[in-house]
Formats: sequence, C-alpha cells, structure tokens
Amino acid sequence: MSGLLGKIDAILAAALAAFGEASEVKALEEARVKYLGVKGQLTEQSRTVGSLPPAERPAAGQAVNLALKEAKAAHQAAAARLERANSQKPGLDVTLPGRRRALGRQHLISRTMDEICEIFERLGFSVVEGPEVETDYYNFEALNFPADHPSRDMQESLFVGEGLLLRTHTSPVQIRTMEKRKPPVWIVAPGKTYRRDDDITHSPMFHQVEGLVVDQGITMADLKGVLSAFATAFFSPDTAIRLRPSFFPFTEPSAEVDIACVLCGGRGCRLCKGSGWLELLGSGMVDPALYKYVGYEGEGVTGFAFGLGVDRAAMLKYGLSNIRHLYEGDLRFLEQF
Ligand code: DAH
Repeated sequence: MSGLLGKIDAILAAALAAFGEASEVKALEEARVKYLGVKGQLTEQSRTVGSLPPAERPAAGQAVNLALKEAKAAHQAAAARLERANSQKPGLDVTLPGRRRALGRQHLISRTMDEICEIFERLGFSVVEGPEVETDYYNFEALNFPADHPSRDMQESLFVGEGLLLRTHTSPVQIRTMEKRKPPVWIVAPGKTYRRDDDITHSPMFHQVEGLVVDQGITMADLKGVLSAFATAFFSPDTAIRLRPSFFPFTEPSAEVDIACVLCGGRGCRLCKGSGWLELLGSGMVDPALYKYVGYEGEGVTGFAFGLGVDRAAMLKYGLSNIRHLYEGDLRFLEQF
C-alpha cells in the first residue's frame, strides 16, 4: 500500500515537471498522453486501486484522485501559458516598408476594344451596343440569311432556347441601330460573340467590333479609305491593306480585308504562310435587301459595313501565338500588357 502511494507521488512529480517544462503545444500534448491519457501512467494507477484488498481501497483511491486532480490543473495551467505566449504578436516595426496592394489593370482585350473604338470615334463614328442573347430574327433573318440557308452553317451557333441564341457576330446591332435611327448612321458596336469553335486561334467566346455607315453617296472608296485609316492608326503608319472578293449575306459586294503581314511587312514569312498578307476582317457594301427590314426603302442611301475580330487583332498586334493566353488569367501573361 505505501509502495503504491510512493509510486503515485513519483509519477505526479514527473508529470508536474513535464507540464511545467513544455515549451510547445506538441510537447505538452505528448506529456498529457503519457500521464493523463487513457493508457497514461496516472490513469493506470487509478485502475490498480480496484485490485487492492477492500480495506486499503479508500485511502489509495483518495490518493490517486488527488494526484489526478493536481496533474490536470497543472496541465491546464501549462496550456494557458502556451496559448498566451503564442498569441502575443511581434511588436510594430515602423521602419519596415509598407505592404503595397497590387494594382489591377484593364485586360488586354478590353484595352484593344477601347483602342479600336477610339480610332473610329476620331473618324466620326459613335459607339452603340446590343444584347449578347439574340433572336434568330436579328442574328440571321433580318441580315438576309434565309431560314435553312447553308450560309447559316458558317456560324457554328450556340442556341439557348426556341429561336434564341448567343449572338454569333455583332452584325445584329446593324439591324437594331437602323430600326431606331434614320440615316445618316455612323456607328461601331463592340462586344462579345459566341460560336461552337475551340482551337489555338478560336475561342467559343470572342470579341468583335462591328461597323456600319449608311449615308448619302457612300461608295466602296469610303469603305477602303476608312479601313485603311484604321489599319494605319491601329498597327503602324505604313500598314497596307488589300480587299479580296468574298461573300456575306448582308453585304453586296463583299470583301475580306487583309493587312500587310505585321511580321515581314509583305515579303512572306511563317506567320503569313508566305502570302505576305494577314486576314483582318469581313466587310462590304450594305445589301439593299436589309433596308426593307428597317424601313430605309426610298431613303436614297447607300452604306458599307465591316466586322472585325478583336481577339485576332490583338493577337496580330502583340504577336500572340495562342488565343487561350487571353482567357487563362495567368498573371505572368497579363502583366506584360
Ligand atoms: N459578321 C461577320 C462574321 O462574323 C463579319 C462581317 C462581314 C461583318 C462583313 C460585317 C460585314 O459587317 O460587312 O463573320
């Protein structure tokens, strides 16, 4: 019996020392497990009490309980001491340089779109916008794409409902603008466009700037003059353009506009695949068929229109090899612009 009491005293002394010395939460927890855990040394002692002769049990039980109580209190005090030490913040050092908040900036696409619109604004255009979810009527029908006509296949459409789609181009803004305004119209319409397309030069969401001029006596010379002025302002002062015959349902005649290769200046290289030219945009003279949809018949006007890919223009201007760089949000890329 006295042997047991001595043992309890010795274990308690060791436990108190271990708790007192613990300088980290981990060491304190190890000491707790060692003495107070389910298989801890003090806990074990309380179990031996039951195997003593009945007469000895009360005194032994009391001794073990006292020891447990004291050890638990010491453990709690040590835990509180460590918590206090850990929560004490290092002092304020006024000599440290301040933490600068990182400043964001406009995304390359938004900047390019603004830049394009500003160039056209200097040429007398005003900026208008239209919805990204369009009706079949504005996206196709009023632009002279007949229902079931193969020309619709060029535009890999994303439908969102009966007769509703994500606009495949900004051209519907031509119709929406003419419905609301009488000539003269000189507008550009920037915005997001969507197609079922995804590779290194196509993204399912991309950007266009549409242009529309309807006025007295507008000819193809005006189209070429305006687009040439744009190309020299946007790329470089000596950028040449050329018009190639093409087809769009809403322009007649239609032309694809190329710029002299930004890399080789027209001599032929890998970027322009040896041709010396890079395709920049679609354009043409407004097909008079559109006028019956917007009440312009009998106005005696003519016009031209164009649609420019903003992502493509940015890729050409900044030499980007993959359109996905624009949409991955990688700061190492974005911070370069
Ligand atoms: N909307 C055409 C497209 O996305 C581009 C285009 C071509 C727009 C000719 C025009 C135009 O305004 O006149 O493929």
